[in-house]
Amino acid sequence: MPKPFVYVTRRFADSGIKALRAKGYRVEVYSEDKIIPRKELLKNVKGCNALLSLLTDQIDDEVFAAAGKQLTVVANYAVGFDNVDLAAAKKRGIVVTNTPSEKVNEAVAEHTFALMISLARRIPEADVFAKAKKYTGWSPTAFIGTDLYGKTLGIIGAGRIGTSAARRGVKGFGMKLVYADTRQNKDIEKELKAEQLSMEKLLEISDFVSLHVPLLPSTRHLISTDEFSLMKKTAFLVNTSRGPVVDETALLRALRTKRIAGAGLDVFECEPSIDCTLTDNLELKSFSNVILTPHIASATIEAREAMSMVAAENILAVLNGKAPLNQAK
Ligand code: DGY
Repeated sequence: MPKPFVYVTRRFADSGIKALRAKGYRVEVYSEDKIIPRKELLKNVKGCNALLSLLTDQIDDEVFAAAGKQLTVVANYAVGFDNVDLAAAKKRGIVVTNTPSEKVNEAVAEHTFALMISLARRIPEADVFAKAKKYTGWSPTAFIGTDLYGKTLGIIGAGRIGTSAARRGVKGFGMKLVYADTRQNKDIEKELKAEQLSMEKLLEISDFVSLHVPLLPSTRHLISTDEFSLMKKTAFLVNTSRGPVVDETALLRALRTKRIAGAGLDVFECEPSIDCTLTDNLELKSFSNVILTPHIASATIEAREAMSMVAAENILAVLNGKAPLNQAK
């Protein structure tokens, strides 16, 4: 019997690849360090038993057909799996998996707070100022920010990552916690004295609003004009989930009119472009109270190695007739 063939769409932390090769699997990795062009993806997946894809790859029925009937598992190297057509996979009996893990939860939660603190304490602005040698002596009025301590943190989406972020807010920064979710999370209510609210109420009372929902038809533009109009003018929005959860046109309007105090964005509505107009005229860049990072919330050695191992374990399980650790459903 030939050993299973795993196609990997881009190079990444290699612990998982090594684990697959150690089992004698044939693992082919796309040779260039860039998003694999569609044409090459369709060509290269032919004959694979497992496809290890990235969130930047659109994995749909055309890809499944190009791979062939032996394709058994798509292991997406991400927690989110909005790039995979689950219905088409199900029709063909292909199992789709993702890579949640404690390391990813913690890395994304840390990045959420990096954005939150940077916004509240105006770190990027102050950094540019200091590096431009503009600092001439201590000033009682320079770069006045706002505390996190004692403020209300509103978590929208109290799943694994939302919970890790919430824990940091309460235990690390002495924040009060409220959350909105379609499900009640009794654990954080008990551990963190969290209160579940409607999203509207949460937006009205939170000083920091942090998004941790998956991208679904029901969460696309979850935060739009009406939602911004509910927020405090002093509130900050942080998004480390998926870009289209925030209506960026409405966000720009809210920033122009100072409807909110600022935003920290790791993800963008028209990703990989940071600008939906697809020009260089990036308005988001013009606001000193907006911090942009290029989808790096899980970009730590620890998280990326964990994702690699989880993806490999999912493949090994499915190709050996077992249930995967994490099935995307
Ligand atoms: C994910 O895992 O979904 C992140 O967006 C990338 O790590």
